[in-house]
Amino acid sequence: MNFHRIITSSLLAPCLVLFSLRAHAVPAEGHKIMISAPNHYAVEVGQRIAQQGGNVIDVAVAVGLSLAVTAPYYASLGGGGFALVKMNGPVEALDFREVAPRGANKEYFQNLPAGSSMNGAHAVAVPGFPAGLFELHQKYGKMKWELLFTDAVAMADKGFAVTGGWVNATENEKDRFDPAGLAAFFKKDAVSYKPGEVLKQPGLTKALMLLQRQKLKGFYQGEVAKDIVDSVAAGGSKITLEDFKAYKVRWLKPLTTEYEGHKIYLMPPPSSGGVVILSALNMLEKLDVKSKPLLGADEYHLIGEIEARAFRGRVLLGDPDFHKNPIQFLTSQDYLESMRKSVNLKKTVAVKAIAEDEIKESAETTHFSVMDTEGHAIALTVTLNGTYGSGVVSHKFGVALNNEMDDFTTKPGEPNMYRLTQGAGNMVEPGKRPLSSMSPTLVEKSGKVVMSLGAPGGPRIISGVLQVLYRTLARGMDVDSAVQAPRVHHQFSPNILFIDRQKFAPEVLTELRNRGHKIDEGWMGKVYAIRLRNDGVLEAAFDSRGEGGAGGI
Ligand code: GLY
Repeated sequence: MNFHRIITSSLLAPCLVLFSLRAHAVPAEGHKIMISAPNHYAVEVGQRIAQQGGNVIDVAVAVGLSLAVTAPYYASLGGGGFALVKMNGPVEALDFREVAPRGANKEYFQNLPAGSSMNGAHAVAVPGFPAGLFELHQKYGKMKWELLFTDAVAMADKGFAVTGGWVNATENEKDRFDPAGLAAFFKKDAVSYKPGEVLKQPGLTKALMLLQRQKLKGFYQGEVAKDIVDSVAAGGSKITLEDFKAYKVRWLKPLTTEYEGHKIYLMPPPSSGGVVILSALNMLEKLDVKSKPLLGADEYHLIGEIEARAFRGRVLLGDPDFHKNPIQFLTSQDYLESMRKSVNLKKTVAVKAIAEDEIKESAETTHFSVMDTEGHAIALTVTLNGTYGSGVVSHKFGVALNNEMDDFTTKPGEPNMYRLTQGAGNMVEPGKRPLSSMSPTLVEKSGKVVMSLGAPGGPRIISGVLQVLYRTLARGMDVDSAVQAPRVHHQFSPNILFIDRQKFAPEVLTELRNRGHKIDEGWMGKVYAIRLRNDGVLEAAFDSRGEGGAGGI
């Protein structure tokens, strides 16, 4: 079912004779391998690698490297991420999230000025992005590692034409950059680039070539690590060369659930996304939300109420190596039923914050997906946290560095940059990974992966992935229609129903307000998704809320 076509035929029927149905966005289609990614450079690079015989992982690695050149505000060698992967064995989850330096502890941010976990050297955690791509390639890649760098190195060295999105992201953060950042991403005397002008990154070219030729040693044990350590030491960070040497990725077992006849694979902690989406899918199905009129107030009211309840337990989660996550409790039928029972169709009902004694159990990010028709798939979400992360750029190699420390509970009771108030299990500890909302997700039908999706957007990742799963699997929409459809976001605290800017009809908003919702118009996560249709065609879509591309061979 194509949502655009339905809207067209019901609301604009008299105009149809003038316009072809194809005038509306439809998912890009492919017959071998497809990519959905946040810019056209990434898609073109992926297509080239696929044409050269690369598999899903080769394509994903080359796409990731190209984004580190063309979109350093959310993908960088200085960031980290998660991936859900299905190659020839079971679905696996790869955690290459950044880790806290070993010199950090629970009190780390207590005596630092406000904002230190967001801006500057203290915000930086040890990057995992290069190690994540390398691990994926080691385990499943088919082409030579070195060949996957060709396009990324060329675009860094010879330059690429910056997009409007690049200019906006860079211009908005100008005040946060140190001199190295201004030198890397602005012209002489901090003059801004205009869309279409060519940016060259000589420092990043060298860093990429070191990683290309010397593999992980070239990043974690050589000049690049030293450059990053020196660059953040100037701002007081405790990151050392030893932290770089000690960095390790880890493979985790995905969370799974059944939904509308499909098996859903979700990211486990240190992502909170899997637990929240799993709980929300259960409530969506049991409360029969799909029986409500499409895109009407009943549907959005229930989605908002369900999201608030699914987010309620997020405060209890943290890095599983340091903290016992009560996943069994949060996803148990008893708990979910108590949450479902508190939902009222006619009015919003605020549930109180979760209490420790209630637990009955012992003891600016981006995403891309690659999938082929054989059922091999990867959903990969990478992050620097905020746009351009900490604003610190390594002095010699021009590597933009994350501000992932803000994803920890830095000051108990105080919300972070996403207005999330976090729990005790997510306090800063040496070598610990901060709790995340990144939710790369794979969907299987009859043992074959039929969908790969994910999003950037902090906690709005979770509501984005959830609603695209619901719209495709329960409401029968194609991926593009599902991705573009208006969304709501509720993260329990603050008690606000965030809605997509300029996408809601006034009568739906009036109806939602009448039910007691406090409404705030705002941004949503940008979802990138690919789906294998029953006819064997892959369809891919990117979110029109931002830049993107979808294509394949
Ligand atoms: N840095 C955003 C997240 O991981 O949720």
